[in-house]
Amino acid sequence: MTGTVLITGANRGLGLEFVHQYAAAGWRVLACCRDPGRATQLSALATKSDGVSVYPLDVTDAKQIRTLAETVEDTPVDLLINNAGIYGQRDADFGNTDTSRWLETLRVNVIAPMKVMEALVAAVVVSRRRTIACISSRMGSIGDNTSGGSYVYRSSKAALNAVAKSAANDLKERGITVVVLHPGWVRTDMGGPSASLTVEDSVTHLRRILDRVSLRDTGSFFDIDGSIIPW
Ligand SMILES: NC(=O)c1ccc[n+]([C@@H]2O[C@H](COP(=O)([O-])OP(=O)(O)OC[C@H]3O[C@@H](n4cnc5c(N)ncnc54)[C@H](OP(=O)(O)O)[C@@H]3O)[C@@H](O)[C@H]2O)c1
Repeated sequence: MTGTVLITGANRGLGLEFVHQYAAAGWRVLACCRDPGRATQLSALATKSDGVSVYPLDVTDAKQIRTLAETVEDTPVDLLINNAGIYGQRDADFGNTDTSRWLETLRVNVIAPMKVMEALVAAVVVSRRRTIACISSRMGSIGDNTSGGSYVYRSSKAALNAVAKSAANDLKERGITVVVLHPGWVRTDMGGPSASLTVEDSVTHLRRILDRVSLRDTGSFFDIDGSIIPW
């Protein structure tokens, strides 16, 4: 089954690959990125594919979120993918955390996905699939944290997980499924060249999970192979 998917951070990395694969599968794709004028690969894709439209969206910009919601108002969004994210501070070790970079990371990774969900829920609820996916990370799992460190990124993804879980509970009665996904360790600008997965493999696996999730799965934190990650 196809539909309409809206993807944030769609100009590179996992976001761009989501656009590629959903467009190739016949979906209508609303691809959002901070600077469409510089998103050359995404623009090329939109030029050759009728189903891909590009929208400006800095996810921390409340006005742009509002404008996007007004623009898509009459378009049911079957699948909203909160993908945009930052690592924030690479060397956020004990004794070395930077407050301003930490706050910026929380703005992008936690508050922005919430604001995007709040603004677009009306478009999601009138769709057929009614699904929201938040791209989190296994590093946000408190139960899985045995190595410590990475205070900034870990805490932002743990907070995103809490936000998604609450949204799953709150939106269940409206028939909306909210899931949290770990994409694996992926060769992107964030994951770096030593990562184990290509974007193609990661997104193929994530799409497989998204194809089969239903309201029964709402509030779950999925690993790339479809297994459940502890919170
Ligand atoms: N790669 C991995 O191994 C890995 C592992 C676990 C989780 N993840 C998660 O997967 C998601 C995608 O990561 P990635 O690996 O594809 O990273 P990436 O290659 O660094 O791409 C990040 C994307 O997020 C966008 N973005 C950042 N801040 C934004 C903002 N304020 N407004 C709008 N867009 C913004 C970037 O846009 P610009 O080009 O404008 O900066 C870019 O499109 C993230 O949520 C990340 O935490 C990745």
